[in-house]
Amino acid sequence: MSAPSNSQDAMKQAVAAAAVEFTLQRIDDKSTIGIGTGSTANAYIDLLAEHKAKITGTVASSESSAERLRSHGIPVYDLNSVDEITLYVDGADEVNPHLELIKGGGGALTREKIVAAVAREFLCIADQSKWVEHLGTFPLPVEVIPMARSHVARELVKLGGDPVYRQGVVTDNGNVILDVHHLFPISPVRKLEEQINNITGVVCNGLFALRPADALMLGTSTGVKTIYPG
Ligand code: 5RP
Repeated sequence: MSAPSNSQDAMKQAVAAAAVEFTLQRIDDKSTIGIGTGSTANAYIDLLAEHKAKITGTVASSESSAERLRSHGIPVYDLNSVDEITLYVDGADEVNPHLELIKGGGGALTREKIVAAVAREFLCIADQSKWVEHLGTFPLPVEVIPMARSHVARELVKLGGDPVYRQGVVTDNGNVILDVHHLFPISPVRKLEEQINNITGVVCNGLFALRPADALMLGTSTGVKTIYPG
């Protein structure tokens, strides 16, 4: 992946600012906000911190986001102590017009999928480089129980992919990641999400189609566009 350009960073900042406004319209003093992981989510966290007096609590999708939230003095709850998440805000590696996503470039896919499952509303925030007609150019992350790595890799090859072990990475859950190349174009997306989920030893895969985003804020060169599933 190439290094982000200044304009890409500016787009991330712009969507993060728009997402904070969106959040403030959605929450009240009983709300819990789900917080994602990655550079776009970090920009959102930093801007959200300017309104921390209005935030009762959050649930984070990774240890790194939890640490960043706490460093701003924002309360972070264990998901098991929360009945509902009002809004989940997170980035993506790819998003298509149905708001189906590939996530997990930062390795946090399993906790991200859990928080998305609990959230009443899921807002995806991304710069325009993430917008695609069809998913699958970005290698699909799959979180795997370590002893099942080779078995899962063989099964992923049977599904047409080319899995690559993400060397040196251990997830927050103590597992490993396989990045699956050459799946483009993924279609139908839900079917592949289910097929990969069904491989023994897979904890989670980075397709978010069974639970897609509800809305997307996309940073473009002409401003932030809010997009609903097509
Ligand atoms: C982490 C993720 C991120 O949301 C995704 O990788 C996008 O990251 P960034 O905002 O840094 O481009 O899924 O697991």
